[in-house]
Amino acid sequence: MMSSDRKMRLGAFLMAGGHHIAAWRHPDAHAPAGVDIDHFIELARIAERGKFDMLFVEDAAAIRERNPEMASQAARSTAFEPLSLLAALAVNTTHIGLVATASTTYNEPYGLARTFASLDQLSGGRAGWNLVTSASELEAENFASSGLRPHSERYERAEEFADAALALWGGVEEGAYLPQGEASFADRARLHPVHLRGKHFAVEGVLESPRSAQGRPIMVQAGASDVGKELAARTADVVFAASQTLAEAQAYYEDVKSRLAKYGRKPDDIKIMPGISPIVGATEAEAKAKYRALQELIPDAVGVALLASYLSIQDLSAYPLDGPLPDMPQTNLIQSRQQLIIDLGRRENLSIRELARHFAGARGHWQVAGTPAQIADAMEERFAEGAADGFNVMAPLFPSGLEDFVAHVVPELRRRGLFREDYEGRTLRQNLGLGTPIKR
Ligand SMILES: Cc1cc2nc3c(=O)[nH]c(=O)nc-3n(C[C@H](O)[C@H](O)[C@H](O)COP(=O)(O)O)c2cc1C
Repeated sequence: MMSSDRKMRLGAFLMAGGHHIAAWRHPDAHAPAGVDIDHFIELARIAERGKFDMLFVEDAAAIRERNPEMASQAARSTAFEPLSLLAALAVNTTHIGLVATASTTYNEPYGLARTFASLDQLSGGRAGWNLVTSASELEAENFASSGLRPHSERYERAEEFADAALALWGGVEEGAYLPQGEASFADRARLHPVHLRGKHFAVEGVLESPRSAQGRPIMVQAGASDVGKELAARTADVVFAASQTLAEAQAYYEDVKSRLAKYGRKPDDIKIMPGISPIVGATEAEAKAKYRALQELIPDAVGVALLASYLSIQDLSAYPLDGPLPDMPQTNLIQSRQQLIIDLGRRENLSIRELARHFAGARGHWQVAGTPAQIADAMEERFAEGAADGFNVMAPLFPSGLEDFVAHVVPELRRRGLFREDYEGRTLRQNLGLGTPIKR
Protein backbone atom coordinates (compact mmCIF):
# COMPACT_ATOMS: atom_id res chain seq x y z
CA MET A 1 0.00 0.00 0.00
CA MET A 2 1.06 3.57 -0.67
CA SER A 3 1.37 5.90 2.30
CA SER A 4 -1.47 8.44 2.33
CA ASP A 5 0.86 11.46 2.44
CA ARG A 6 2.46 10.43 -0.84
CA LYS A 7 1.98 13.29 -3.29
CA MET A 8 1.87 13.26 -7.06
CA ARG A 9 4.72 15.01 -8.94
CA LEU A 10 3.82 17.18 -11.90
CA GLY A 11 5.95 18.44 -14.75
CA ALA A 12 4.83 20.94 -17.38
CA PHE A 13 6.32 19.80 -20.67
CA LEU A 14 6.70 22.99 -22.71
CA MET A 15 6.33 23.17 -26.47
CA ALA A 16 5.65 25.96 -28.93
CA GLY A 17 1.94 25.97 -29.81
CA GLY A 18 1.12 22.75 -27.97
CA HIS A 19 1.89 19.03 -27.93
CA HIS A 20 -0.74 18.06 -30.44
CA ILE A 21 0.92 17.84 -33.82
CA ALA A 22 -1.72 20.07 -35.42
CA ALA A 23 -1.86 22.60 -32.56
CA TRP A 24 -0.30 25.29 -34.72
CA ARG A 25 -3.20 24.97 -37.21
CA HIS A 26 -5.84 25.48 -34.50
CA PRO A 27 -7.76 28.79 -34.56
CA ASP A 28 -6.57 29.55 -30.99
CA ALA A 29 -2.92 28.93 -31.85
CA HIS A 30 -0.28 31.59 -31.45
CA ALA A 31 1.72 31.07 -34.64
CA PRO A 32 5.16 32.47 -33.63
CA ALA A 33 4.99 30.80 -30.18
CA GLY A 34 8.26 28.90 -30.62
CA VAL A 35 10.34 32.08 -30.77
CA ASP A 36 8.30 34.21 -28.38
CA ILE A 37 9.92 34.41 -24.95
CA ASP A 38 6.82 36.12 -23.49
CA HIS A 39 4.80 33.05 -24.47
CA PHE A 40 7.14 30.79 -22.47
CA ILE A 41 7.18 33.19 -19.51
CA GLU A 42 3.38 33.02 -19.51
CA LEU A 43 3.43 29.18 -19.58
CA ALA A 44 6.03 29.08 -16.78
CA ARG A 45 3.89 31.36 -14.61
CA ILE A 46 0.75 29.31 -15.22
CA ALA A 47 2.62 26.13 -14.22
CA GLU A 48 4.09 27.81 -11.14
CA ARG A 49 0.67 29.09 -10.14
CA GLY A 50 -0.42 25.45 -10.31
CA LYS A 51 2.57 24.53 -8.04
CA PHE A 52 4.02 22.17 -10.63
CA ASP A 53 7.31 20.57 -9.63
CA MET A 54 9.06 21.39 -12.86
CA LEU A 55 9.12 22.82 -16.33
CA PHE A 56 10.44 20.30 -18.85
CA VAL A 57 11.98 21.11 -22.24
CA GLU A 58 12.95 18.52 -24.86
CA ASP A 59 15.70 18.98 -27.42
CA ALA A 60 17.38 17.95 -30.64
CA ALA A 61 20.20 20.04 -32.08
CA ALA A 62 18.81 19.88 -35.60
CA ILE A 63 15.78 20.63 -37.71
CA ARG A 64 13.10 18.12 -36.78
CA GLU A 65 12.21 16.68 -40.16
CA ARG A 66 13.66 16.29 -43.63
CA ASN A 67 10.27 15.40 -45.02
CA PRO A 68 8.38 18.55 -46.17
CA GLU A 69 5.11 16.89 -45.08
CA MET A 70 6.38 17.27 -41.56
CA ALA A 71 6.28 21.03 -41.21
CA SER A 72 3.82 20.28 -38.37
CA GLN A 73 6.54 18.55 -36.42
CA ALA A 74 8.82 21.56 -36.81
CA ALA A 75 6.05 24.00 -35.88
CA ARG A 76 5.50 22.06 -32.66
CA SER A 77 9.00 22.44 -31.30
CA THR A 78 10.51 25.44 -29.61
CA ALA A 79 13.22 27.26 -31.51
CA PHE A 80 15.00 28.12 -28.25
CA GLU A 81 17.88 26.00 -27.00
CA PRO A 82 16.61 24.55 -23.66
CA LEU A 83 19.32 25.79 -21.28
CA SER A 84 19.19 29.37 -22.47
CA LEU A 85 15.37 29.29 -22.46
CA LEU A 86 15.31 27.98 -18.88
CA ALA A 87 17.87 30.58 -17.74
CA ALA A 88 15.42 33.24 -18.92
CA LEU A 89 12.52 31.47 -17.20
CA ALA A 90 14.55 31.14 -13.98
CA VAL A 91 14.49 34.89 -13.44
CA ASN A 92 10.75 35.02 -14.09
CA THR A 93 9.85 32.31 -11.55
CA THR A 94 10.80 31.52 -7.95
CA HIS A 95 9.98 27.89 -7.05
CA ILE A 96 9.41 25.77 -10.10
CA GLY A 97 12.11 23.33 -11.24
CA LEU A 98 13.82 23.85 -14.61
CA VAL A 99 14.61 20.65 -16.50
CA ALA A 100 16.49 20.88 -19.79
CA THR A 101 17.19 18.03 -22.18
CA ALA A 102 20.80 17.72 -23.29
CA SER A 103 22.63 15.04 -25.22
CA THR A 104 25.54 12.91 -24.04
CA THR A 105 26.35 12.11 -27.66
CA TYR A 106 27.05 15.66 -28.85
CA ASN A 107 28.49 17.33 -25.73
CA GLU A 108 31.52 16.93 -23.47
CA PRO A 109 31.05 16.30 -19.73
CA TYR A 110 32.95 19.31 -18.40
CA GLY A 111 31.16 21.80 -20.64
CA LEU A 112 27.70 20.45 -19.91
CA ALA A 113 28.28 19.92 -16.16
CA ARG A 114 29.43 23.54 -16.02
CA THR A 115 26.37 24.88 -17.89
CA PHE A 116 23.96 22.93 -15.66
CA ALA A 117 25.85 24.02 -12.54
CA SER A 118 25.42 27.56 -13.74
CA LEU A 119 21.64 27.16 -14.27
CA ASP A 120 21.44 25.49 -10.85
CA GLN A 121 23.32 28.38 -9.25
CA LEU A 122 21.41 31.22 -10.90
CA SER A 123 18.03 29.60 -10.15
CA GLY A 124 18.80 28.95 -6.48
CA GLY A 125 18.91 25.13 -6.86
CA ARG A 126 16.13 24.43 -9.33
CA ALA A 127 17.95 22.88 -12.30
CA GLY A 128 17.55 19.41 -13.75
CA TRP A 129 19.23 17.62 -16.62
CA ASN A 130 17.20 15.29 -18.82
CA LEU A 131 19.98 13.06 -20.09
CA VAL A 132 19.36 11.72 -23.59
CA THR A 133 21.57 9.82 -25.98
CA SER A 134 19.89 11.36 -29.09
CA ALA A 135 18.27 9.11 -31.62
CA SER A 136 17.90 11.51 -34.55
CA GLU A 137 19.79 11.01 -37.80
CA LEU A 138 19.37 14.69 -38.65
CA GLU A 139 21.16 15.57 -35.42
CA ALA A 140 23.97 13.10 -36.16
CA GLU A 141 24.61 14.79 -39.49
CA ASN A 142 25.33 18.07 -37.71
CA PHE A 143 28.08 16.62 -35.52
CA ALA A 144 29.65 13.53 -36.98
CA SER A 145 30.73 12.44 -40.40
CA SER A 146 30.16 8.80 -39.38
CA GLY A 147 26.38 9.19 -38.99
CA LEU A 148 24.22 8.08 -36.06
CA ARG A 149 26.25 5.92 -33.70
CA PRO A 150 24.77 2.53 -32.74
CA HIS A 151 22.37 2.42 -29.77
CA SER A 152 24.84 0.45 -27.60
CA GLU A 153 27.73 2.81 -28.29
CA ARG A 154 25.59 5.87 -27.51
CA TYR A 155 24.71 4.36 -24.14
CA GLU A 156 28.31 3.35 -23.38
CA ARG A 157 29.26 6.99 -23.86
CA ALA A 158 26.26 8.11 -21.79
CA GLU A 159 27.38 5.95 -18.84
CA GLU A 160 30.82 7.52 -18.81
CA PHE A 161 29.37 10.98 -19.34
CA ALA A 162 26.96 10.68 -16.39
CA ASP A 163 29.76 9.47 -14.10
CA ALA A 164 31.97 12.39 -15.11
CA ALA A 165 29.24 14.99 -14.58
CA LEU A 166 28.31 13.55 -11.17
CA ALA A 167 31.97 13.47 -10.14
CA LEU A 168 32.45 17.08 -11.21
CA TRP A 169 29.42 18.31 -9.26
CA GLY A 170 30.35 16.11 -6.31
CA GLY A 171 33.90 17.47 -6.35
CA VAL A 172 32.87 20.85 -5.00
CA GLU A 173 31.93 20.85 -1.32
CA GLU A 174 29.83 23.44 0.46
CA GLY A 175 32.00 26.51 1.15
CA ALA A 176 34.73 25.50 -1.32
CA TYR A 177 34.58 28.92 -2.92
CA LEU A 178 34.78 31.59 -0.26
CA PRO A 179 33.03 34.91 -0.43
CA GLN A 180 35.08 37.91 -1.54
CA GLY A 181 37.22 39.43 1.20
CA GLU A 182 38.54 36.14 2.59
CA ALA A 183 42.27 35.56 2.38
CA SER A 184 42.04 32.94 -0.34
CA PHE A 185 39.18 32.61 -2.80
CA ALA A 186 39.14 28.82 -2.91
CA ASP A 187 39.42 26.42 0.02
CA ARG A 188 41.53 23.65 -1.54
CA ALA A 189 40.55 21.14 1.14
CA ARG A 190 36.95 21.34 -0.07
CA LEU A 191 37.74 20.89 -3.74
CA HIS A 192 38.16 17.35 -5.06
CA PRO A 193 39.54 17.27 -8.60
CA VAL A 194 38.22 14.60 -10.90
CA HIS A 195 40.74 12.22 -12.50
CA LEU A 196 38.84 10.37 -15.15
CA ARG A 197 40.36 8.62 -18.12
CA GLY A 198 37.73 6.58 -19.92
CA LYS A 199 37.16 5.25 -23.40
CA HIS A 200 35.29 8.35 -24.53
CA PHE A 201 36.44 11.18 -22.25
CA ALA A 202 39.34 12.42 -20.18
CA VAL A 203 38.55 14.91 -17.42
CA GLU A 204 41.17 16.32 -15.05
CA GLY A 205 39.96 19.15 -12.91
CA VAL A 206 37.32 20.79 -10.75
CA LEU A 207 34.29 22.86 -11.59
CA GLU A 208 34.66 26.56 -11.00
CA SER A 209 31.05 26.80 -9.88
CA PRO A 210 30.14 26.70 -6.16
CA ARG A 211 27.94 23.87 -4.86
CA SER A 212 24.30 24.78 -5.48
CA ALA A 213 21.50 25.00 -2.94
CA GLN A 214 20.36 21.48 -3.93
CA GLY A 215 23.86 19.97 -4.07
CA ARG A 216 23.77 19.21 -7.76
CA PRO A 217 21.23 19.35 -10.60
CA ILE A 218 18.49 16.71 -10.56
CA MET A 219 19.19 13.88 -13.01
CA VAL A 220 16.32 13.01 -15.31
CA GLN A 221 16.50 10.18 -17.84
CA ALA A 222 14.31 9.38 -20.82
CA GLY A 223 15.39 6.09 -22.30
CA ALA A 224 13.22 3.04 -22.16
CA SER A 225 15.41 0.24 -23.57
CA ASP A 226 17.13 -2.19 -21.23
CA VAL A 227 20.38 -0.20 -21.11
CA GLY A 228 18.36 3.01 -20.80
CA LYS A 229 16.53 1.69 -17.73
CA GLU A 230 19.76 0.43 -16.20
CA LEU A 231 21.39 3.84 -16.56
CA ALA A 232 18.29 5.41 -15.00
CA ALA A 233 18.39 2.98 -12.08
CA ARG A 234 22.01 3.83 -11.39
CA THR A 235 22.00 7.61 -11.90
CA ALA A 236 18.53 9.17 -12.29
CA ASP A 237 16.33 10.95 -9.76
CA VAL A 238 13.40 11.21 -12.17
CA VAL A 239 12.39 9.12 -15.18
CA PHE A 240 10.25 10.35 -18.02
CA ALA A 241 8.45 7.60 -19.92
CA ALA A 242 5.79 6.93 -22.53
CA SER A 243 3.16 4.23 -22.09
CA GLN A 244 -0.38 3.66 -23.27
CA THR A 245 -2.13 1.16 -21.00
CA LEU A 246 -2.15 0.78 -17.22
CA ALA A 247 -0.57 -2.67 -17.57
CA GLU A 248 2.29 -1.32 -19.72
CA ALA A 249 2.91 1.52 -17.29
CA GLN A 250 2.88 -0.86 -14.30
CA ALA A 251 5.34 -3.23 -15.96
CA TYR A 252 7.71 -0.35 -16.76
CA TYR A 253 7.42 1.08 -13.22
CA GLU A 254 8.07 -2.27 -11.58
CA ASP A 255 10.98 -2.96 -13.92
CA VAL A 256 12.79 0.35 -13.19
CA LYS A 257 12.14 0.24 -9.43
CA SER A 258 13.35 -3.37 -9.17
CA ARG A 259 16.74 -2.36 -10.62
CA LEU A 260 17.48 0.14 -7.82
CA ALA A 261 18.45 -2.17 -4.95
CA LYS A 262 21.69 -3.34 -6.57
CA TYR A 263 22.91 0.27 -6.59
CA GLY A 264 22.07 0.66 -2.89
CA ARG A 265 19.01 2.77 -3.70
CA LYS A 266 15.45 2.63 -2.37
CA PRO A 267 12.37 2.51 -4.66
CA ASP A 268 11.41 6.02 -3.59
CA ASP A 269 14.78 7.46 -4.68
CA ILE A 270 13.52 7.64 -8.24
CA LYS A 271 10.30 9.34 -9.37
CA ILE A 272 8.70 7.83 -12.44
CA MET A 273 6.72 10.40 -14.40
CA PRO A 274 5.08 9.18 -17.60
CA GLY A 275 3.65 11.64 -20.09
CA ILE A 276 -0.06 12.45 -20.14
CA SER A 277 -1.82 14.60 -22.70
CA PRO A 278 -5.01 15.82 -20.99
CA ILE A 279 -7.89 17.30 -22.97
CA VAL A 280 -10.08 18.99 -20.39
CA GLY A 281 -13.77 19.78 -20.94
CA ALA A 282 -16.63 20.97 -18.72
CA THR A 283 -18.43 17.82 -19.89
CA GLU A 284 -17.12 14.63 -21.41
CA ALA A 285 -18.81 15.55 -24.71
CA GLU A 286 -17.03 18.93 -24.75
CA ALA A 287 -13.64 17.30 -24.11
CA LYS A 288 -14.21 14.73 -26.86
CA ALA A 289 -15.26 17.50 -29.26
CA LYS A 290 -12.07 19.44 -28.44
CA TYR A 291 -10.03 16.34 -29.16
CA ARG A 292 -11.86 15.68 -32.44
CA ALA A 293 -11.36 19.28 -33.55
CA LEU A 294 -7.60 18.85 -33.10
CA GLN A 295 -7.53 15.41 -34.73
CA GLU A 296 -9.36 16.74 -37.79
CA LEU A 297 -6.55 19.22 -38.35
CA ILE A 298 -4.01 16.42 -38.96
CA PRO A 299 -3.51 15.81 -42.69
CA ASP A 300 -3.11 12.04 -43.37
CA ALA A 301 0.28 12.61 -44.95
CA VAL A 302 1.57 14.25 -41.74
CA GLY A 303 0.31 11.49 -39.46
CA VAL A 304 1.73 8.78 -41.71
CA ALA A 305 5.10 10.52 -42.07
CA LEU A 306 5.40 10.91 -38.27
CA LEU A 307 4.54 7.27 -37.73
CA ALA A 308 7.02 6.23 -40.42
CA SER A 309 9.81 8.22 -38.80
CA TYR A 310 9.26 6.58 -35.37
CA LEU A 311 9.08 3.15 -37.04
CA SER A 312 12.13 3.79 -39.26
CA ILE A 313 10.20 2.81 -42.37
CA GLN A 314 11.23 4.81 -45.43
CA ASP A 315 7.88 5.00 -47.14
CA LEU A 316 4.91 3.84 -45.13
CA SER A 317 2.52 5.42 -47.65
CA ALA A 318 3.55 2.70 -50.12
CA TYR A 319 1.38 0.30 -48.04
CA PRO A 320 -2.46 0.41 -48.13
CA LEU A 321 -3.42 3.05 -45.54
CA ASP A 322 -6.54 1.14 -44.59
CA GLY A 323 -4.60 -2.07 -43.99
CA PRO A 324 -2.51 -3.15 -40.97
CA LEU A 325 1.13 -2.23 -40.27
CA PRO A 326 3.63 -4.34 -42.23
CA ASP A 327 6.32 -6.41 -40.44
CA MET A 328 9.55 -4.48 -39.90
CA PRO A 329 13.06 -4.81 -38.45
CA GLN A 330 13.99 -3.25 -35.08
CA THR A 331 14.95 0.43 -35.31
CA ASN A 332 18.27 1.96 -34.22
CA LEU A 333 16.28 5.00 -33.04
CA ILE A 334 13.82 4.80 -30.09
CA GLN A 335 13.26 1.04 -29.86
CA SER A 336 10.72 1.24 -27.07
CA ARG A 337 8.51 3.64 -29.04
CA GLN A 338 8.57 1.42 -32.11
CA GLN A 339 7.34 -1.47 -29.96
CA LEU A 340 4.66 0.71 -28.38
CA ILE A 341 3.28 1.54 -31.85
CA ILE A 342 3.30 -2.09 -33.00
CA ASP A 343 1.54 -3.17 -29.77
CA LEU A 344 -1.06 -0.39 -30.04
CA GLY A 345 -1.87 -1.28 -33.66
CA ARG A 346 -2.33 -4.97 -32.80
CA ARG A 347 -4.22 -4.43 -29.56
CA GLU A 348 -6.78 -2.07 -31.05
CA ASN A 349 -6.73 -3.61 -34.51
CA LEU A 350 -5.95 -0.26 -36.17
CA SER A 351 -5.21 0.43 -39.80
CA ILE A 352 -2.14 2.47 -40.72
CA ARG A 353 -4.36 5.55 -41.18
CA GLU A 354 -6.07 5.14 -37.78
CA LEU A 355 -2.84 4.35 -36.00
CA ALA A 356 -1.13 7.36 -37.57
CA ARG A 357 -3.86 9.73 -36.40
CA HIS A 358 -4.00 8.28 -32.93
CA PHE A 359 -0.21 8.35 -32.54
CA ALA A 360 0.19 11.86 -33.96
CA GLY A 361 -1.96 13.36 -31.21
CA ALA A 362 0.74 13.00 -28.55
CA ARG A 363 3.57 10.98 -30.18
CA GLY A 364 2.59 7.81 -28.38
CA HIS A 365 1.98 9.34 -24.97
CA TRP A 366 -1.19 8.63 -23.01
CA GLN A 367 -4.11 10.86 -24.07
CA VAL A 368 -7.12 11.38 -21.80
CA ALA A 369 -10.10 13.49 -22.86
CA GLY A 370 -12.71 14.10 -20.19
CA THR A 371 -14.00 16.21 -17.34
CA PRO A 372 -11.57 17.32 -14.60
CA ALA A 373 -12.91 14.50 -12.40
CA GLN A 374 -12.44 11.89 -15.13
CA ILE A 375 -8.88 13.04 -15.79
CA ALA A 376 -8.13 13.04 -12.06
CA ASP A 377 -9.64 9.51 -11.82
CA ALA A 378 -7.37 8.27 -14.58
CA MET A 379 -4.29 9.87 -13.00
CA GLU A 380 -5.21 8.64 -9.54
CA GLU A 381 -5.58 5.09 -10.77
CA ARG A 382 -2.07 5.03 -12.26
CA PHE A 383 -0.64 6.81 -9.21
CA ALA A 384 -2.25 4.41 -6.75
CA GLU A 385 -1.81 1.23 -8.77
CA GLY A 386 1.98 1.22 -9.05
CA ALA A 387 2.25 2.80 -12.50
CA ALA A 388 3.45 6.36 -11.76
CA ASP A 389 4.84 8.69 -9.10
CA GLY A 390 3.60 11.66 -11.08
CA PHE A 391 3.15 12.85 -14.64
CA ASN A 392 4.76 15.02 -17.25
CA VAL A 393 1.75 17.02 -18.44
CA MET A 394 1.72 17.57 -22.19
CA ALA A 395 -1.03 20.11 -22.88
CA PRO A 396 -2.31 19.65 -26.45
CA LEU A 397 -2.62 23.40 -27.00
CA PHE A 398 -0.84 26.33 -25.29
CA PRO A 399 -1.64 28.30 -23.27
CA SER A 400 -5.31 27.19 -22.98
CA GLY A 401 -4.62 23.48 -22.39
CA LEU A 402 -2.26 24.20 -19.50
CA GLU A 403 -4.59 26.86 -18.08
CA ASP A 404 -7.51 24.42 -18.13
CA PHE A 405 -5.42 21.81 -16.35
CA VAL A 406 -4.26 24.24 -13.64
CA ALA A 407 -7.71 25.79 -13.17
CA HIS A 408 -9.73 22.56 -13.09
CA VAL A 409 -7.68 19.36 -12.73
CA VAL A 410 -5.15 20.58 -10.14
CA PRO A 411 -7.91 21.62 -7.65
CA GLU A 412 -9.57 18.24 -8.18
CA LEU A 413 -6.28 16.45 -7.40
CA ARG A 414 -5.90 18.63 -4.29
CA ARG A 415 -9.41 17.83 -3.08
CA ARG A 416 -8.39 14.19 -3.18
CA GLY A 417 -5.22 14.91 -1.19
CA LEU A 418 -3.06 13.82 -4.12
CA PHE A 419 -1.28 17.08 -4.86
CA ARG A 420 0.45 19.80 -2.83
CA GLU A 421 -1.26 22.98 -1.62
CA ASP A 422 2.04 24.84 -1.72
CA TYR A 423 5.71 24.27 -2.44
CA GLU A 424 7.47 22.41 0.38
CA GLY A 425 10.84 24.01 -0.28
CA ARG A 426 12.88 26.29 -2.51
CA THR A 427 14.90 23.74 -4.44
CA LEU A 428 13.69 21.18 -6.97
CA ARG A 429 15.23 18.43 -4.82
CA GLN A 430 13.21 19.52 -1.77
CA ASN A 431 9.99 19.78 -3.73
CA LEU A 432 10.46 16.34 -5.26
CA GLY A 433 10.98 14.99 -1.74
CA LEU A 434 14.40 13.58 -2.61
CA GLY A 435 17.20 13.19 -0.06
CA THR A 436 20.74 14.59 -0.20
CA PRO A 437 22.62 13.28 -3.24
CA ILE A 438 24.82 10.25 -2.55
CA LYS A 439 28.54 10.93 -2.24
CA ARG A 440 30.62 9.68 -5.13
C1 LIG B 1 9.80 9.58 -23.11
C2 LIG B 1 11.05 9.83 -23.91
C3 LIG B 1 11.45 11.14 -24.20
C4 LIG B 1 12.61 11.41 -24.93
N1 LIG B 1 12.97 12.69 -25.24
C5 LIG B 1 14.08 12.93 -26.00
C6 LIG B 1 14.49 14.25 -26.37
O1 LIG B 1 13.86 15.25 -26.03
N2 LIG B 1 15.59 14.40 -27.15
C7 LIG B 1 16.33 13.33 -27.56
O2 LIG B 1 17.33 13.52 -28.22
N3 LIG B 1 15.98 12.09 -27.21
C8 LIG B 1 14.88 11.85 -26.46
N4 LIG B 1 14.56 10.56 -26.13
C9 LIG B 1 15.41 9.48 -26.64
C10 LIG B 1 16.42 8.90 -25.64
O3 LIG B 1 17.39 9.77 -25.33
C11 LIG B 1 17.21 7.78 -26.22
O4 LIG B 1 18.25 8.29 -27.00
C12 LIG B 1 16.39 6.94 -27.13
O5 LIG B 1 15.17 6.77 -26.53
C13 LIG B 1 17.00 5.60 -27.36
O6 LIG B 1 17.04 4.93 -26.16
P1 LIG B 1 15.95 3.90 -25.63
O7 LIG B 1 15.90 2.88 -26.72
O8 LIG B 1 16.58 3.51 -24.35
O9 LIG B 1 14.63 4.57 -25.42
C14 LIG B 1 13.39 10.31 -25.38
C15 LIG B 1 13.01 9.00 -25.06
C16 LIG B 1 11.87 8.74 -24.33
C17 LIG B 1 11.52 7.31 -23.99
